[in-house]
Amino acid sequence: MSCVRDLLAESTLLGGDEARREAEVLLCAALNKPRSYLMAWPEAEVAETLVQRYRDWLLQRSQGVPVAYLLGARDFWTLSLQVNESTLIPRPDTELLIEQALALNLSDSATVLDLGTGSGAIALALASERPRWRIVAVERSTKALEVAIANAKQLGLERVRWLSGNWFSGLDERFALIVSNPPYIAEHDAHLDTGDLRFEPRAALVSGVDGLDDIRKIVSQAPQHLEPEGQLLLEHGFEQGSAVRALLTATGFLNVASYQDLAGHERVSGGSWPGMVR
Ligand SMILES: C[S@@+](CC[C@H](N)C(=O)[O-])C[C@H]1O[C@@H](n2cnc3c(N)ncnc32)[C@H](O)[C@@H]1O
Repeated sequence: MSCVRDLLAESTLLGGDEARREAEVLLCAALNKPRSYLMAWPEAEVAETLVQRYRDWLLQRSQGVPVAYLLGARDFWTLSLQVNESTLIPRPDTELLIEQALALNLSDSATVLDLGTGSGAIALALASERPRWRIVAVERSTKALEVAIANAKQLGLERVRWLSGNWFSGLDERFALIVSNPPYIAEHDAHLDTGDLRFEPRAALVSGVDGLDDIRKIVSQAPQHLEPEGQLLLEHGFEQGSAVRALLTATGFLNVASYQDLAGHERVSGGSWPGMVR
C-alpha cells in the first residue's frame, strides 16, 4: 500500500515549479478529499484503485495534458464548470470581461449575447450575477455547446438560450450588450506549441494571420445586432488593444476604451454603438 506522503513524492515525475501543487490537486481529486486532508494525514494508506487513478493522471500530466481536462472541471468566476477536449479551458483573464460587463449600467432585464460561448463560462457567470438578464449564447462547435448546456443544467442556470451557429448567422434580434472571447491567436504564433494550448481546440484559439480575423468579423457585424447605445466588449491578446480600438473606432463605435488586467495588460476593449444605423 502507498501512503499520501509517498504518492505526493511522485510529483517529481512532473518537474517544474508547479509539480507539487499539481500533484496535490490530482491526489485530492483521486481521493475526493480537500487539501487539508493531505496535510493532516500524510501516512494515510490509499486504496490501490485510487493509487492507479492518481498515477494515470500524473503520467498524462507529465505528457502535458492539462489538469482541467484530466479532472473534467475548471473553476471560473464563482462557478465550477465541466470542460473537455471540445472546449477551451476558461481562463482567469476572462474574468476581466465579466467585471467590465457587470460594471455597465444596463437595465435589470437587458438582452445580452455571448459569442463563442465554449463551456458557457461567460454566459453562465453573467447569468449567475444578473438572473433577470436575457442571455443568448452562440457556439459553432456542437460538442462544446453540449458541455455548456450540461453546465447550465448542473448549475441551475437554465434561463440562458443556447444557439448553434456561426457568429451572428441566424440572429435577427438586437442586444443591449454583446460580449465575446473569440479566437485571437495568430496562426503561426509559437505559443500554440506550448502548455495547455497544445491540447485545446485550434478552432477556439486561432484566427488568421494576425489573430484578428474573428474580431474583425464580430466588430463589423455587431452594429446590426446592437440596440441604440448598445455595448460591445471583446477579449483579445495583450498586444492587440490598439488594433482592436482602431477597428472599433473605424466602424463607428463611440467611447472606445481598453481595460487592463492585474498585470497591466490591455485584455478587453469595447465601445458603444450610437444608434440603429446600417
Ligand atoms: C477563445 S474560445 C472562448 C470560449 C469561452 N467563451 C471562454 O471564454 O472560455 C472561442 C470560442 O469561439 C468558438 N467559435 C470559433 N469560431 C466561431 C464562430 N464562427 N461562430 C461561433 N463560435 C465560434 C470556439 O469554438 C470557442 O468555443
